[in-house]
Amino acid sequence: MIKILVIHGPNLNLLGKREPGIYGKVTIEGINKKLKEMAIKKKAGVDIFQSNHEGEIVDKIGKAGNKYDALLINPAAYTHTSVAIRDAISAIDIPAVEVHLSNIYAREDFRHISLISPVAKGQVSGFGADSYLYGLDAAINLAKKITK
Ligand code: DQA
Repeated sequence: MIKILVIHGPNLNLLGKREPGIYGKVTIEGINKKLKEMAIKKKAGVDIFQSNHEGEIVDKIGKAGNKYDALLINPAAYTHTSVAIRDAISAIDIPAVEVHLSNIYAREDFRHISLISPVAKGQVSGFGADSYLYGLDAAINLAKKITK
């Protein structure tokens, strides 16, 4: 069975209460439920991890190569700052899909740069919680080596 690791970065545990005008009212539990439902339909497994700590995310990615077929990650604010997370993704040999709830290119200039995109297979940005579902679809297809 295809196994996907999902990582939510910092402050995404606050979804629902956090800037609902930007991120919507969906909670992280709501997103995780949708991801699990989609995984069941597609006969894939998902493990989900959230952390506000860069080093914990780096550790998790570092161990993912042996256990998972693809990585789905919303690096949140670390998208724009973390060479360590970028290098961790680069170091493993499974494909990564980067997702964002908001359209990072329609926001402040500092969000227009992603340090993660060059080491990801692709990015989904701007579709709210659906970004994760499109991203999971892509991650599963990549893991199965299917390209649409
Ligand atoms: C985000 C966008 C980032 O710029 C921001 O720091 C986040 C969330 C998104 O999902 O839209 O925390 O990754």
